[in-house]
Amino acid sequence: MSESEPSMPANLYPAAEEWQAVDRYFTSTLVGEDDALITARASGAETSMPNAEVAANQGAFLGLLAQIVGARRVLEFGTLAGYSTIWFARSVGEDGRVVTLELEADNAVIAETNFRTAAVADRIDTIVGPAAESAARLIDEGTEPFDLVFIDADKPSNSVYLAAAIELTRSGAVIVIDNVVRNGAVADADSTDPRVQGVRQVVNDLASNPELDATALQTVGEKGWDGLIIARRR
Ligand code: DHB
Ligand code: MG
Repeated sequence: MSESEPSMPANLYPAAEEWQAVDRYFTSTLVGEDDALITARASGAETSMPNAEVAANQGAFLGLLAQIVGARRVLEFGTLAGYSTIWFARSVGEDGRVVTLELEADNAVIAETNFRTAAVADRIDTIVGPAAESAARLIDEGTEPFDLVFIDADKPSNSVYLAAAIELTRSGAVIVIDNVVRNGAVADADSTDPRVQGVRQVVNDLASNPELDATALQTVGEKGWDGLIIARRR
C-alpha cells in the first residue's frame, strides 16, 4: 500500500490506555486469535506500513460481517501482511475465494507465508502491483462478482477503488472502507493531508451515488481514534 503518502509513525494514532485495555478485554474474551493470526500480526512490523493492520477485534468483526453477508468471494484493496485477509479467508470457507491487491512485492511475500501458516493459501489470490491497475484487469477479465469488498490501501485512491468495487460487485454486496476518521481529521474540509482528502472524496462519491446506502462509525481502541464506512449496493 502507500502509493504517495507521507510516512506515518509506526503507531499510527495515539491510543488512550483505557481504550487499549478495553480492546485487550474483548479480544481475550471473545476473539480467538490463534497462532497463525498472532504470527501474521507480528510480521506486519516487517511490511512497508508497520502496524497498520486492523486490530484483532476489528478482524473478527470483518470476518463476522463476511459470514453475515454469506460472502463467498471477497476483494481486498491493501494486503500488507495479510492479517485481515486471513480473517476473510476463514469466513468464506473452503470453497470461497479472497482476492487481495498489494502494491509491494515484498509485502506480498510476507503475506503469502502467513496464508500458508494459516492453511488458507489455496483460497487466496494475491495480486501484486498498483491496486487500481489490478482491479482494472479484473474488470476487463469479467471476473465473477464479489460479495464483499474491503478498501484498506492508499487513502488518496479511495475513490478509484470504490469505482472499481462498484464494477466488481453484485447487487446487495457490501463495501467497507477503513481509516475514515483519522484522529478526527476527516471533519476538517480544509485539511491539506491527501489521505484526509481521499476519505472526504470517497464520502462525496458515496453520498451522491443513489445505488449505494452507506454509514460511518467512529472507533476507539488500540488503533487510536479512527473509524470505518459500511456501504451496500442496492
Ligand atoms: C493508514 C492506513 C491504514 O490502513 C491504517 O489502518 C491506518 C493508517 C494510513 O495510510 O495512514
Ligand atoms: Mg487500515
